[in-house]
Amino acid sequence: MLKNKDIVSMNDLSAEEIQEILRTAEFMKNIVVSGNKKAPNLQGKSVVTLFYENSTRTRMSFELASKYMSAASANISASASSVAKGETLLDTGRTLDMMGTDIIIIRHPMSGAPALLSRHVNASVINAGDGMNEHPSQALLDMFTIKEHKGRIEGLKVAIIGDVYHSRVARSNMWGLSKMGAEVVLASPPTLMPLHMDKTGFKVTYDVEEAVRDADAVMCLRIQKERQQAGLFPSVREYFDFFGLDQKKLALAKPDAIVMHPGPMNRGTEISSFIADGRQSVVCNQVQNGVAVRMAMLHLLARRRSE
Ligand code: CP
Repeated sequence: MLKNKDIVSMNDLSAEEIQEILRTAEFMKNIVVSGNKKAPNLQGKSVVTLFYENSTRTRMSFELASKYMSAASANISASASSVAKGETLLDTGRTLDMMGTDIIIIRHPMSGAPALLSRHVNASVINAGDGMNEHPSQALLDMFTIKEHKGRIEGLKVAIIGDVYHSRVARSNMWGLSKMGAEVVLASPPTLMPLHMDKTGFKVTYDVEEAVRDADAVMCLRIQKERQQAGLFPSVREYFDFFGLDQKKLALAKPDAIVMHPGPMNRGTEISSFIADGRQSVVCNQVQNGVAVRMAMLHLLARRRSE
């Protein structure tokens, strides 16, 4: 049973709760890959996705997860709602509450927006990505994918390489993977690494080869052009040479290492097309597992609300 009504940060989930979500997702994956994607788990519940930022994978997988489990589901894009007329986040949230919404899934450019919303609504709130802060459902699907391929998370070396500074995926994975006993190594140019990251207890390096050496999983991060101030690295070509994952760098990892990317990928910037489509890539598995993991999150939150 989840202890909180919301999932806004990996920091709020205990190792036991993470394990429960991953176990539940195994059952949910059977539904996703079956010919009959219809389960009654969310019958009588309503789910709203409230997205203030673009998304393909996260929004679609939450929407499909809701539909596969028979929820009444709806989607609001900020640009097509009363937000465009100046309505505040809290007024929008309260409006959804009054309509009987059980679960609100929010993506917002401001760090902390989901946490703020969660304190002002009765609905359960899931953080689908807030600014540079966190993206817990991505970390959970990443952990599920690692466990599926490696049989465990504990004791594995996971290299997270690229734009750590702007990455909510990196932050949620750091908290989640370390809680589950993995060794996390972060690698980026100094301009794309948050200050004092080395004091958090995580291994930090500016040398991708050091991070990738003997890794069990290599997680590439997207260069976030929409959040970049100009001049954080000299050129895309130079970035790829030093920090992009190619055959030469991947050869340093364990021979059976998996390659991950949350998507959307900038091919030729943080990852070569050869690696993105290669035999070690699990990028497509991550997308498929995203639906199963989000089904598990919705099911467990709905069950908590019912009980
Ligand atoms: N990984 C991820 O969050 O992708 P989207 O932006 O497409 O949702």
